[in-house]
Amino acid sequence: MEFNIKSGSPEKQRVACVIVGVYESRKLTFAADLLDRISNGFISDVIRHGDMEGKLGTTLVLHSVPHTLCDRVMLVGLGKEREFRAKEYREAVRASIKALTQTSAVEAVSYLSELTVKKHDVEWMIEQAAVVTLDALYRFDRFKSKSDDLAREPRKLTLAVPRRSDLADGEKGLQRGLAIGNGMKLAKDLGNLPGNICTPSYLGEEAQRIAEAFSCEAEVLGQPQIEALGMGSFLSVAKGSVQEPRLIVLKHAGAKDKADKPIVLIGKGITFDSGGISLKPGEGMDEMKYDMCGAATVLGAFRAAVEMKLPLNIVAIVPACENMPNGNANKPGDIVTSMSGQTIEILNTDAEGRLILCDALTYAERFNPATVIDVATLTGACVVALGHIATGLYSNQDSLARELLAAGEEVADRAWHMPLWDEYQELLKSPFADMANIGGRPGGSITAACFLSRFAKSFDWAHLDIAGTGWKSGKDKGATARPVPLLVQFLQDRADIALGNVVRRGRPRREAVETVEDEQD
Ligand code: BES
Ligand code: MN
Ligand code: ZN
Repeated sequence: MEFNIKSGSPEKQRVACVIVGVYESRKLTFAADLLDRISNGFISDVIRHGDMEGKLGTTLVLHSVPHTLCDRVMLVGLGKEREFRAKEYREAVRASIKALTQTSAVEAVSYLSELTVKKHDVEWMIEQAAVVTLDALYRFDRFKSKSDDLAREPRKLTLAVPRRSDLADGEKGLQRGLAIGNGMKLAKDLGNLPGNICTPSYLGEEAQRIAEAFSCEAEVLGQPQIEALGMGSFLSVAKGSVQEPRLIVLKHAGAKDKADKPIVLIGKGITFDSGGISLKPGEGMDEMKYDMCGAATVLGAFRAAVEMKLPLNIVAIVPACENMPNGNANKPGDIVTSMSGQTIEILNTDAEGRLILCDALTYAERFNPATVIDVATLTGACVVALGHIATGLYSNQDSLARELLAAGEEVADRAWHMPLWDEYQELLKSPFADMANIGGRPGGSITAACFLSRFAKSFDWAHLDIAGTGWKSGKDKGATARPVPLLVQFLQDRADIALGNVVRRGRPRREAVETVEDEQD
């Protein structure tokens, strides 16, 4: 898909499809009104007949609109004008793209990006249009020997900006949108790949490809090196599988000062979670190929950040292995020693995510991090608590939790702050080791986070449990790439802070950046 930015009148577009909005009830947007005038009221006639009320997300494709140069005009319902916000804008863009794929038009010019969304500038309008479009067009059909879907993918989408003077901002927004979209695509592809292909070593090679493409540093450690680090907890999970584990480290030195403390992202990379000896039931077990969505989204967010050249130092760490039940596997009752020296009694081998993450957290200490954020499909209990809507957020630093909540809110990739109180820590007591790896069914997402917190004492840390949000089941089965948008927004906000800008939500961010740069010059 090729994107363009343009300013120009809708009636002059010589293209397969021009996309314009209609508010509820039957109120034409500026672009729709221009088309209506040139066509002597053709559009308002159609609307008067009641075929397009303007309800949010509805679409109507018109052919041969008089005096226009395009083959089709698509009307897109925007809902009530007063209620038209970020969420409604995204929904309208998504609906327009879905409808476009139902036509045979391969090129379109969209005027939705010209609309006004309160508190957001042109750059944001374009960025979000690109992100939503790429998200809506995503398909994973690599393993289909023939495409079973006749819908054609549009080849070129031109996004309109109101004025010529907006072109440069539009272009900036497009670059950011593409970077986020590419990061999300990477995360979805990795998530959707089957476990027999997306193995720990495959993830390692993927990290090396990212490093090569964006000239950053990758380090992929194998079994002997992980042993040398003393990661007894991580290795205990890996040893039940014939697949060798990998510890993947990617570094982006984007900050002016290379000695700036980095932001460390850690992603759970269980490329298949059978449960191990505490074997899972068969139903839906295929979905445990998604147990590396934490890894996939950390790699995706990292890719977006390097493509955007964010002025930050960022380290991505992925402990990757399979959780399988061979003769060498962990058994309930086994006791292992983590890299931190703390001992763990493994009461359930299916609580393996925390066993690999704890050693990755200890490993993160060597980077003297400003902040550490781990992302993991950690607990079924988190799905019970929050469903598939919110990501579970835990942190040992309330201000960090607030930053992440706000970032998620900004890009419709929301998280919910969960408690990490001492009372819950009690549940992890073991009679034989420093802690058990499970705390019982009640509050299972919380006790999992409590377990991790014991390895995150020396830095500001947050944990995102994406068990409910990382992928979808059912007829729309597939990875969502959440929380890539949240993470990239968080990093962007941190970059703004590093540049000396105050991060204020929902206002033109770009102006502040320019002012500060001017002052520095
Ligand atoms: N990867 C699973 C968590 C999971 C389950 C995510 C279902 C999404 C959907 C994790 O490794 C796991 O198995 N957790 C156990 C922990 C329990 C044994 C304490 C769980 O949630 O059942
Ligand atoms: Mn498990
Ligand atoms: Zn798991």
